[in-house]
Amino acid sequence: MNGEGIGKVDGKTYFIPNALIGEDVEFEVDQDRQNYAFATLTNINSFSKERVTPPCPYFYECGGCNLQHMKYSHQLYFKSLLVKKTLKKIADIDLDVLPTQPSRQFKYRNKSSFNVDNKNLGFYIKGSNDIVSIEYCMLMNDDINKVFSIFKDYLHSLDEDKSCLIKHLVVRAIAHQILVGLIIKSDFDCSAFYTLLENNFSKIGLYKIINNRRDSVVLSGKTIHVSGIKEIVINNFNLTYSVDLLGFHQTNIEIQDIIYQKVLDLIKPNSVVVNGFSGEGLLSGILASKAKHVYGIEISSASHKSAEKLKRDNNIDNLTNILGDFFVKIDPLLTSVDTLILDPSKKGCGKEIMNKIIGVKNIVYISCNPIALAKDLRYLTKYYIIDYIEPYDMFPNTNSVETLVHLKLKKEK
Ligand SMILES: C[S@@+](CC[C@H](N)C(=O)[O-])C[C@H]1O[C@@H](n2cnc3c(N)ncnc32)[C@H](O)[C@@H]1O
Repeated sequence: MNGEGIGKVDGKTYFIPNALIGEDVEFEVDQDRQNYAFATLTNINSFSKERVTPPCPYFYECGGCNLQHMKYSHQLYFKSLLVKKTLKKIADIDLDVLPTQPSRQFKYRNKSSFNVDNKNLGFYIKGSNDIVSIEYCMLMNDDINKVFSIFKDYLHSLDEDKSCLIKHLVVRAIAHQILVGLIIKSDFDCSAFYTLLENNFSKIGLYKIINNRRDSVVLSGKTIHVSGIKEIVINNFNLTYSVDLLGFHQTNIEIQDIIYQKVLDLIKPNSVVVNGFSGEGLLSGILASKAKHVYGIEISSASHKSAEKLKRDNNIDNLTNILGDFFVKIDPLLTSVDTLILDPSKKGCGKEIMNKIIGVKNIVYISCNPIALAKDLRYLTKYYIIDYIEPYDMFPNTNSVETLVHLKLKKEK
C-alpha cells in the first residue's frame, strides 16, 4: 500500500520496497516478525513490463519519492487500485473507481523545504535523519532548482561558524515570483545571499526565520523580512489573491485547479454551499461565482484572515468566512445547505461529524488519505449513494493520492 512490493513465501508476507507485481526477486530480511517481514531488494531475476529506470539519480537513497521505478501510466493505475482496495477492505465498498487524473510527472511542486547540515544540502535518506546531498530535485519547478543552486554556492562560501547556523532552506515559487526563507538557529547577516538572488530573479523576497527547536517543525519562530517582495500575487479563476511563505497553499496548482473546476461543475447555480475545512478560501471564492451564497468554515485564524482578504480584494458579497471548528459552526447551516464540501486534513472527519451532516442532499468529499476517507464513507454510505469516486495525482512519483467522492442522499435520516 506504500508502493512497496508485497510477496508471500511459505504463508509469510514480505514487504519489499522497489519490487513490482509479477517480478521474480531476491531479497534480504531486515526486520522479521511472526507473520510478516520487511526486506531489502537485492536482485531482480525477471522484470515487470511496468518497470522503468528511475530518472532521478537520487531515487534509491532519497526519501522523497517511492514510485519512480514504475512507468507513469502504471503509477496512475496503482493509485486507482489503492483507493479501490482501501474502500473495499475498510468500508466494504465495492465500486468502480475512475482512472486517476494525471499531472505533469516532474517539476510540479511550487514549494520545497531542503535540509541543511553544515555544508550538506538535500533531503533525508529513506528511513534516516541523515541528508542525501543533491544537485537538484526533479519534482521542483525550475525557479526552485535555480534558487537551490544559488544557495548551494552561497552555503559553500560561508565560514563554518555561519553555515552551521542554517537548518533549512524553504522556497515557494509561483508564476516566477519567489519567496525564500532561511531557517536559522540564531540571527546573522545574510544580505549577501539576497544580492545573489536579486541578480538572478526580478521578483524575489528573502526571509530569515529564527528557530532553535529540536523537533521537526520547520516554519516556526521569529520571522524577519530581509528584502524584496513579501508575498506572491496570483490571478486564477478570475480572482486575485496573495500567498505568503508560511501559509498553506496547494503545492501542485495544475491538479488543484482541476479539482476546483470539478467541484464548481458539481454545484448547482444559485444554490447554498458550505465549504467545510476551507483553508485560505480560494475554493470558496471560486464557488461564489456560481452559488447563491457560500459559507467557508476554517479553524486556523491565519487561514481565515487570508480568506477574508481574498473576499475583500475581489469584492465578493455572497461569501461568509466563518472562523471556528466545523463540528460547532455547521449547526445553524444544516437546514439551508444544498451542497456540502468536505476537505479535511489527513485524519478525516470522524463519526461525530458524519452523524451530524446526514440529511444534507449533496456532499463532495475531497480526501488526501484513502484510509480516513474509507472510515468516513463506511458510515456515510448507510445514508448516501456514491455517484462517483475520482482520484487525482497531486503528488506524482509518491504513493500519495487525492480523491474526490460525490455523494447523494438516498433517504431521510
Ligand atoms: C486539507 S486542508 C484543505 C484546505 C482547503 N480546502 C484547500 O483546498 O486549500 C484542511 C483544512 O482544514 C482546516 N481544519 C482542520 N480541522 C478543522 C476543524 N475542526 N474545523 C474547521 N477547519 C479545520 C485546516 O486548518 C486546513 O486549512
